[in-house]
Amino acid sequence: MLSSIIASQHELHLDWGGVVPEIASRAHVRRILPVISAALQQADCTTDQLTAVAVTTEPGLVGSLLVGLTAAKTIALTLNIPLITVNHVEAHIYACSMGHDTPIYPGIGFVVSGGHTNLYDCRSASDCRLIGGTTDDAAGEAFDKAARILGLPYPGGPSIQQAAATGNPDRFRMPRPLLHSGKLDFSFSGLKTAVLYAARGVPGPNQLSSTPPELVPDLAAGFQAAAIEVMVEKCRQAVRLLKYSRLCVGGGVAANGPFRQALSTMCRKERIELFIAPPELCTDNAAMAAVAWELLAAGRTAGLDADVLPGLVRPDFGRSRNKK
Ligand code: KG4
Ligand code: ZN
Repeated sequence: MLSSIIASQHELHLDWGGVVPEIASRAHVRRILPVISAALQQADCTTDQLTAVAVTTEPGLVGSLLVGLTAAKTIALTLNIPLITVNHVEAHIYACSMGHDTPIYPGIGFVVSGGHTNLYDCRSASDCRLIGGTTDDAAGEAFDKAARILGLPYPGGPSIQQAAATGNPDRFRMPRPLLHSGKLDFSFSGLKTAVLYAARGVPGPNQLSSTPPELVPDLAAGFQAAAIEVMVEKCRQAVRLLKYSRLCVGGGVAANGPFRQALSTMCRKERIELFIAPPELCTDNAAMAAVAWELLAAGRTAGLDADVLPGLVRPDFGRSRNKK
């Protein structure tokens, strides 16, 4: 990895408690060229040394995706190099391979980000099949919403982790939704509601308008413990069900310290080989597009007519994509 430049927009969305699509796409327009220049500079590389250009085209916010794709197409056209389109969720799993010499596939892939809580049967880098997901909120979304209820800043994951560090996870016993449903599905909205009621009381004239600050650490710890227990147990079930011995976990929530510890304890006990990227490569970053090397090697380049796919419309990724 020669460079990884991240133009974080957190400060632009702070006041809104979440990403505002129009603000995000305008910021992409302003920042894309400085980011590309900085990446080349940090890598000490000139444009004529580039072999190919990779860009995320799915899933995500349409405006932001279009800015990236337009920039990448322009680079591919002017330098006459191949264009490779990357699925963001797939790239989160591939990021697990960084720092490991041994192959991460085949195995179970688990992506826990702001938009996804997906379990995949990963046969190779370009053949991953969805085997489980959330029926409502994504894991990261649940952290963000719980943080909002507790009056903690966005993004909620790191705020909850920090507040929970001094809290008692057993004072407020939170539900473990679908823990033993027998299926590989998740539901986090009930957990979020449980945090709300424990924090402010049930709806009615006596419900508080904000969470008493002295309750925040224990509530954060209770929420975090419940979310972690569900995520770790579903990973265990998925690996056992498909008779794999490898587990790859990626996405922003995989940066969570107690979650990483719980995963590694479970994997040691169950003799599962755990692949998890360093925390800075779990949250969105440029290096995760390294999956493009695999696609390029497989001849899966895209044409200049490539388009964005904002929704995760296909349950599986890789197999039908990027064929010339
Ligand atoms: O992968 P990511 O950076 O962006 C998306 O693709 O969505 O994930 C962002 C999500 C946010 O919901 C954020 O709150 C969560 O990852 N997150 C965390 C932590 N760091 C980021 N959740 C729990 N603990 C963390 N330390
Ligand atoms: Zn992401």
